[in-house]
Amino acid sequence: EKNGYPHFMLKEIYEQPKAVCDTTTIHVDKDGMVCFDNLNWTKADLENIDNILITACGTAYHAGLVAKHYIERFVKIPVEVDIASEYRYRQPLTSERTLCIVVSQSGETLDTLEALKEAKRLGARSIAVTNSIGSSIAREADYTIYTLAGPEIAVASTKAYTTQLVALLLLSLYMGQIKGTIRPELIKDITSALLTLPDKITEVLKEKDHMEKLADSLKDAKDIFYLGRSIDYAIAMEGALKLKEISYIHAEAYAAGELKHGTLALITKETPVIAVATQSHVASKMYSNIQEVRARGAEVIGIGYDDDPELEKYATDTVRIPRVDEFIAPILSVIPMQLLAYFTGIKRENDVDKPRNLAKSVTVE
Ligand code: M6R
Repeated sequence: EKNGYPHFMLKEIYEQPKAVCDTTTIHVDKDGMVCFDNLNWTKADLENIDNILITACGTAYHAGLVAKHYIERFVKIPVEVDIASEYRYRQPLTSERTLCIVVSQSGETLDTLEALKEAKRLGARSIAVTNSIGSSIAREADYTIYTLAGPEIAVASTKAYTTQLVALLLLSLYMGQIKGTIRPELIKDITSALLTLPDKITEVLKEKDHMEKLADSLKDAKDIFYLGRSIDYAIAMEGALKLKEISYIHAEAYAAGELKHGTLALITKETPVIAVATQSHVASKMYSNIQEVRARGAEVIGIGYDDDPELEKYATDTVRIPRVDEFIAPILSVIPMQLLAYFTGIKRENDVDKPRNLAKSVTVE
């Protein structure tokens, strides 16, 4: 059932072109507009939403952090993203003018389910993004969007995450389409870019041998830092989580602009840095941050576009992704980080499919 792959995790990383293709095509019509069956929202429905809450755990929470950028840009409604186990135990200002979006691959994560129930109790309308048909979270939410990733067996989430990003991007385009806060041409541009994304993912997967080699430079590290700005910061968080759970190496993600506020003290030649630079409005700032950590002796693996001549001037090694719309870039830039985590775990002889102390679905607190 591993289809010739040594591990489910690697198989699932390689299933991403199909998973992304399936999740896109079902929600894009022949005119390139977004459709969700039976979600018959009107402009008035959206005008009755003052704020959006996204709540989830782990990797699904990281998908929510990216979605905040999507929704605020395309729908112009403020979004807060909260860890489900935090949300359910605070006194949130959720109301009947809140839309709550929960994200859960399994649809069974207890904290996420309870956070959804709490938001509903406070009057919120709700949407679940899940990979699991008929799951508890799917049954509890007012409306469910399914990611079509297929079964994800490895504990580390890979294809579920990239399909969550696709589903959340499509949802934000859909809301913007109805509310009139995004031009139809832009919707069509992004959906057509999503339709060609599977081929680009296949391109990025060709970096496999490169990532296997780079894992040699990470496998004996004690601490690894992941840096990014804007959407790349959210992706850096996902990259760091993947590395922690599979390699057992301490990794932390930092908003690169925060370096000077403390973290820079930890950077030495012993701390490899992974820097993601796909967002043009902060690119020059990222290059300065890379120079800052290089000046303290750190080796930097830069992840950026294949037509970006700047990155290799500053990073020790560069990993290239094809040029895409900057909102779509995270779906590509996370893939080298998944591979890096996988190979680092393998080189440390860990059980990458079943990392220690972790379960695939966390149905207890
Ligand atoms: O099934 P869920 O998406 O609700 O699971 C949430 C987290 O437990 C999960 O994403 C976890 O962080 C992964 N093991 C990360 O790879």
